Amino acid sequence: MEKKNKVFIATSLDGFIADKKGEIDWLHSIPNPDNIDMGYGEFTSQIDALVMGRNTYETICGFDIGWPYQKPVFVLSNSLTSIPEKLKGKVILIKGPLKEVIEQIHEKGFYSLYIDGGRTIQSFLKEDLIDEMTITIIPCLLGGGIPLFNKLPKRLDFECVDSKLYLEKVVQNHFVRKR
Ligand SMILES: NC(=O)c1ccc[n+]([C@@H]2O[C@H](COP(=O)([O-])OP(=O)(O)OC[C@H]3O[C@@H](n4cnc5c(N)ncnc54)[C@H](OP(=O)(O)O)[C@@H]3O)[C@@H](O)[C@H]2O)c1
Repeated sequence: MEKKNKVFIATSLDGFIADKKGEIDWLHSIPNPDNIDMGYGEFTSQIDALVMGRNTYETICGFDIGWPYQKPVFVLSNSLTSIPEKLKGKVILIKGPLKEVIEQIHEKGFYSLYIDGGRTIQSFLKEDLIDEMTITIIPCLLGGGIPLFNKLPKRLDFECVDSKLYLEKVVQNHFVRKR
């Protein structure tokens, strides 16, 4: 089983994943009349489980859409102590040093992991634990907000292995870590 940590995320042109108020409504600023998923379904069909930060988890819980994931979701949090009854069996709280967290998830039989949340992705990158990133760029400048990237202790090289244009306006690049 191939062990991979993958990112699939949308950013603004200036690299933010949420605006100054923490909102993500701008993600839908490009008209998408046929509701194309820009590769999300194919991507999620190839992962075994998700690992997301507490803030992203709480954002999703606040949506009026029900729980959207079919695969197990491991939520990184040092502050949460319980999850709602209706999410038991779907959401697992997890904490600790990232390498140990990943090992625990592998031991449960999940190897291809979808890593989500700004601070979460940044902390994975700090330890060079991201293998692939699919980044969809919404062509707007937010001028501030929650950044996808932050400082790193060392340079990390990636190769762009695919590039697509959706809706004639949205570029999506697929990067693979060059090791
Ligand atoms: N544009 C997009 O496609 C996209 C995708 C995902 C999310 N978002 C947006 O991004 C925002 C959330 O991102 P975020 O950067 O605020 O936070 P995040 O990564 O979702 O969550 C950060 C939290 O995760 C917990 N955590 C525990 N261990 C951690 C570790 N090793 N590394 C990092 N976090 C750890 C901490 O919670 P405790 O304080 O409980 O310890 C920390 O405060 C939301 O607004 C969401 O809507 C956008």
